[in-house]
Amino acid sequence: MARKSVLVLNGPNLNMLGLRQPEIYGTMSLRDLEGICVDAAQDAGWQADCRQSNHEGDLVGWIHEARTEFNGIVINAGAYTHTSVAIRDAISAAETPTIEVHLSNIHKREEFRHHSYLTAVSVGMICGLGAEGYVLAIQALARMAAADEAR
Ligand code: DQA
Repeated sequence: MARKSVLVLNGPNLNMLGLRQPEIYGTMSLRDLEGICVDAAQDAGWQADCRQSNHEGDLVGWIHEARTEFNGIVINAGAYTHTSVAIRDAISAAETPTIEVHLSNIHKREEFRHHSYLTAVSVGMICGLGAEGYVLAIQALARMAAADEAR
C-alpha cells in the first residue's frame, strides 16, 4: 500500500524564517522546519510534501490538490490566516483533514491576529509551540487516520 502523505503548507513571509523577527519566530530557517516535518512524517510512516508561497492563489490551488492527492494538510497561512476567505473556502472544498498551525501564540499578540478564518474549518489549531506545533499536527493526522481505518 502506498504511504500516506501530508501536505505541509507555509504562507507569506515564512520563507524569511530565521531572518524575520527572530525574537518572535526563532532562528530556524524554513528549510530546517521542513526537514523536521519530513522526519516527523517518516516517523509516523507517512511522507510529507512541504511547500511555501507568498501568493494566495498558489495556496488555494495546492489545497484543492489535496482533495485527491493527500491524506491531510498542515497549514500555516501566515497573515492570510487573518484575511483570507478564499483559503477558508479551499479548505472546506478539499474535504481533507486540516490542522492550522502558527509558530507564535497569536492570542498573545496584536488584536488583529486573534481572529482566524481557518480555525472553524480545521480539525484543530496549534499555536505558540514553534516547530513542535507542526510535529504534533503531523502526528495527530496520522493517529486520526489510523483510528478511522481501525473503525
Ligand atoms: C504566523 C502568525 C501570523 O499572524 C503572521 O502573520 C505570520 C506567522 C505564525 O506562524 O505565528 O506570518 O502565522
